[in-house]
Amino acid sequence: MQTWIHSFIKAKKIGVLGAGNLSRSILSGFLKSGVIDLKDIYVTNRNPEKLHALQAEFPGLQVINSSAELIENCGIIILGVKPQDIVTAVESVRGLFTNEHIVVSLAAGVSLASLKSLIPGTEQLVRWMPNTPLKIQEGVVGYSVLNESETLAQLSEKLLSPLGLVVPVEEGDEMNALTIACASGPAFIYEFIMIWQSWLESSGFPSNISREMALQTFLGTVKLAADNKSLNLTDLQNQVMSKKGTTHAGLMHLRSLEVENLIAASFNKAVNRAREIEQDFDKEIHKN
Ligand SMILES: NC(=O)c1ccc[n+]([C@@H]2O[C@H](COP(=O)([O-])OP(=O)(O)OC[C@H]3O[C@@H](n4cnc5c(N)ncnc54)[C@H](OP(=O)(O)O)[C@@H]3O)[C@@H](O)[C@H]2O)c1
Repeated sequence: MQTWIHSFIKAKKIGVLGAGNLSRSILSGFLKSGVIDLKDIYVTNRNPEKLHALQAEFPGLQVINSSAELIENCGIIILGVKPQDIVTAVESVRGLFTNEHIVVSLAAGVSLASLKSLIPGTEQLVRWMPNTPLKIQEGVVGYSVLNESETLAQLSEKLLSPLGLVVPVEEGDEMNALTIACASGPAFIYEFIMIWQSWLESSGFPSNISREMALQTFLGTVKLAADNKSLNLTDLQNQVMSKKGTTHAGLMHLRSLEVENLIAASFNKAVNRAREIEQDFDKEIHKN
């Protein structure tokens, strides 16, 4: 069924500048969801070899060799480059942006205000902060829009909702918290899964079986909680734990080690890094 979003995208076309891990995850999520036609997406990348690999992964995808051409052909530009590469990537083409362009930034630690200084030609600026599970339509994506633009909010909701949970966020503390807990989140979760796996391995299980056991424990636990929204997580935890039992002994010890504080401290480190990136980015813009 054709909806306004299909017509909007068809008329505008999406241009992806920087075909790295996250851009590929977004593309594959969009295509699986059917919200966008492959022929309405154009991609460019610094290293052209990646474009060939991308065309092999998504036959029919339009690839372009220059950012200038991408901006001339597309009304929605997704900046998929690393924060430290944005200034270089945009500097020579910034004059091509007009207020008809919608610019979506995926960069962690680059605020809308900084983006506005870099690309003064358009007010239509939005940040999407996704995580890689959106590739399988199980993502969490935060978004924030400049000047509370209703059009950009609706566009973000429509495009992103087939990819997972979509959360509008305020710039600043909320965006930083979502960036670390959800966008960086999978890296932390993998760390835990790997700890499970290696503990099972050290107890004698072969590596591949340990991996499956660890994954299935996480997957099953999360699914069970997701299927039982009326129960809070403590109720579900208590179903596994009897007083004076094995789980109780282990979990009490874990709590005594103040793991919560260790995780909060690690997240805070990551938030500080996001703030540093923002400061470095601002310095770089104002240097130029
Ligand atoms: N990965 C995540 O889970 C995640 C989550 C949330 C947000 N983000 C944000 O998403 C952005 C991309 O991250 P990523 O992990 O996808 O990085 P990545 O894999 O390194 O991808 C970045 C891509 O940008 C290309 N590039 C760099 N400069 C360019 C230029 N001047 N013109 C065209 N292409 C250029 C790179 O090309 P080369 O092939 O030449 O290196 C590379 O393919 C970052 O800003 C990051 O903060 C990532």
